[in-house]
Parts: sequence; structure tokens; C-alpha cells
Amino acid sequence: MTNAGAQRDMGKRWVRRRHITMCAFKSFFRDCPDDIRDICDQELTSLVRVLRQSSPGGHEPTKDITYFVARSMWRLIYGRGRLPDASTCERLRILSTKMDDYTKNSGPFSALDRFPMLKRFVAGSMTRYQDAVQFMNRFCDDCEVERRAHTGADQSHDLMTYMMRGARTLTTEDERSLGLNEDLLFSGVGDLIRAGTESPSLLLLWVCLMLAKYEDVQRKMYEELEYLRDSEADIPTICEASADRMPYSHAVVYETIRYCSIVPFLKRRCLSDAIVGGHRLPAGTNIIINNYAISHDPRRWHDPEVFRPERFLDQDRMFDASQLEQFLPFGIGKRRCMGEEIGKLLPFAAIATLVLNFRLSAPDPIDLSPSFGITLTPKKQPLVFTPRSPGSKQPESNS
Ligand code: HEM
Repeated sequence: MTNAGAQRDMGKRWVRRRHITMCAFKSFFRDCPDDIRDICDQELTSLVRVLRQSSPGGHEPTKDITYFVARSMWRLIYGRGRLPDASTCERLRILSTKMDDYTKNSGPFSALDRFPMLKRFVAGSMTRYQDAVQFMNRFCDDCEVERRAHTGADQSHDLMTYMMRGARTLTTEDERSLGLNEDLLFSGVGDLIRAGTESPSLLLLWVCLMLAKYEDVQRKMYEELEYLRDSEADIPTICEASADRMPYSHAVVYETIRYCSIVPFLKRRCLSDAIVGGHRLPAGTNIIINNYAISHDPRRWHDPEVFRPERFLDQDRMFDASQLEQFLPFGIGKRRCMGEEIGKLLPFAAIATLVLNFRLSAPDPIDLSPSFGITLTPKKQPLVFTPRSPGSKQPESNS
């Protein structure tokens, strides 16, 4: 099996691949809401346990958060109700570390890469990037092989269950005219693990920083979430993403996506000659859409450089979904994000659960300047996760 990343595919074959994948997502979410909630609940409980052990002096959470997202994605996509075994956990941990290499080094390559001989001594950014991509592709291929070996072991479903159903709709015509077969279809699942770990982890890390920096925002979010708390639970979790029940929390998450512009550029290529805004674009033209500029356009946003979640609330303090039309949090059109539904649930649930369980603060001034790659990554810096006692309206102090 080869991992021929879905993202590099285009044209009619891509449309067919995407259609099957989107149908699989839709059916999985429709048929298995309880399984999805259980996975969310169990993984969030583990994350809270780990962060409870973190140093009161400050803890850099990138690895824990990325591992939480990668594990959750693995369980949703390949898990069939299973927990990852020791070997998979180990590889998910490595993947979480490589993900950092992947995001950080996907931008401009370093000068070292121009001198391949030096690679033996110091890895340039392209080398680290390629190494990360190779590891992720291998991991996803292995997951698929292992998953096939488990077929029939239990009745639980995962995304792959539905992908396999979709694969049965492939025809000989698909193979003949599009070159699309089951192997190629499944190779795109690697992109779901990669994209599904990368953006939600970054979003979570950015929201943690924003909440630690803007204590007032954190307090308002906590007050909203306290009402949803299950008073019995030692570790309360919130495994939903309801804008009606959590309007302010929603506003915080979307304002973070806008303000931090996690995916700053969208890429397209003209497959045939086109005219856009009066400009002639010949087939083959590469187009870069500046998502960052759209998210910070003063004609659309008042004080765009100010972090203000209230801009996503209407006059009744409810979440104002019409604001989502002002920018492209999940992209647009035929290449729009494929994991939007999970992408909304997982980080929303995680951030709500973290705020319910901890007061977030920082021992040092917070640096919001990003590292540049295909995504904007926050600088690594310690945060303090102070456990909250139930019912505490005011965050506990660190002292
Ligand atoms: C916080 C969560 C997420 C955000 C903000 C996000 C954002 C985006 C954006 C802006 C794009 C580019 C879309 C475009 O070019 O129009 C994208 C693409 C993509 N996303 Fe997400 N995403 C998130 C979560 C996820 C998850 C959980 C998955 C998988 C389960 C996923 C899978 C993908 C894939 C496969 C693409 C490429 C689509 C293509 O090239 O056609 N994303 N995402």
C-alpha cells in the first residue's frame, strides 16, 4: 500500500474520493454519536489526569495536547471500539513529536537543505519535514494493515467501517477512467490523521494561550461552562459543541481561529482556463488565497488586531453564526476541510473540559508571535494548569 496523499490529488478522481470520504464521515456521525462521545469523554479524562500531574511552576503542553488529539483521531478512524495497544501508543507519541517537525518545517526550507552533504551532521528543515511525512505515511499504512487483521473481532464501528462501505461502491469504470481503486482511496485516510491531528492541536494550544493571557475571557467562559458541569464527576468533561448552550465558549474558539489564523493560506490550482474578477487565469495557474488577510481585514472586522470574542455574539449574547461568513475558518468550496464536524467537536469539547477543570495561567509573559509554516504554530512556552475546586466562581490563585 502506498500513501498517495489525497491532498495532492485533484480533478474528477479527487471529487470521487472526496465524495466517498464525506459520505463516510456523515454516516459515522449519524450512526455512532454515543461511540464518538465515549471516545471524547475517555480521552479528555486521560488528558485532565495528565495535566493534573503537571508542575505547578509551569508545563509546556504541546506534547500532551497533540498526543490527546492523535489518540482520539486514531480511535475515531481506526479504533473499532479498541484502545490503542502499547505499540500503537508508542507510535502515536512519536507521531505527536513528528507533527511538531511537520508543522514547523513545512514553511520556507532552511539553507542547510541546499547542502545535502551537511545532512549527515545537522538535519535541515526539509529533512525533518520529509522524515515526519514518511513516518506519518508509514504509520497510517501500518494502521490500515493492522485494522484489516482485526476485522471481525468486534461489532464496533469507526470511520474506516464506513470508508470500506464506500469502497464497495467503486466500479470498474472508476478504476479504468479515474485510476481509482480501494488502495488509493484508503491512502487518503493518512491525510485525515495528519490534518485531523494538526489543526485541532494547534487550535487547542492557541486557545490555551489566549485564555491564560486574557483572564477576563477565561472567567466568562468558566462561568458559562459551570452550568453544564456534572456535579457528581471527579473529572467533569463536556463532550459536545453546542453553540446554543455555550455561546461565549464558541465565540472564544472562533475568535481564536480568526485572530491566530491557524491556516493562513489556502491553495488552489486552475484545472482549466478561468476568468476571476476580470483576470484571465490559464490552466495550471497556482492560486494562493490569503486567509490571514481576510481574517484581519479592517473592512470586515472592527479593530481586527484586538482579541475580542464578543464580536461573535449577537445582541442577545447568543452565538452569531452569520459572522462565520466573514472569513474561512474551514476553507471554502470543493477543497473545504473534510473533518469539519470532528474539527468542531474535539477542540471545542477539549477546551471546555480544560477550562472546567483548570485555571490556566502563565509564569512568564505570553508570546503570541507565531512560527510560520503551512500553519501558524504558537511558540512553545510553559503554562500553569491549576486544578479548580467544584463550584469555584473565581479561579483559584496560584499561590
Ligand atoms: C480545528 C479544526 C480544524 C480547522 C480549523 C481546519 C481547517 C482547515 C482548512 C482551513 C483547510 C483548507 C481548506 C481549503 O483549502 O478550502 C482544511 C483542509 C483539510 N482538513 Fe481541516 N481543519 C480542522 C480539522 C480537521 C480534521 C479534524 C480533519 C480530519 C478528520 C481535517 C481534514 C482536512 C483535510 C483532509 C483537508 C484537505 C482537504 C482538501 O485538500 O481538499 N481537518 N482544514
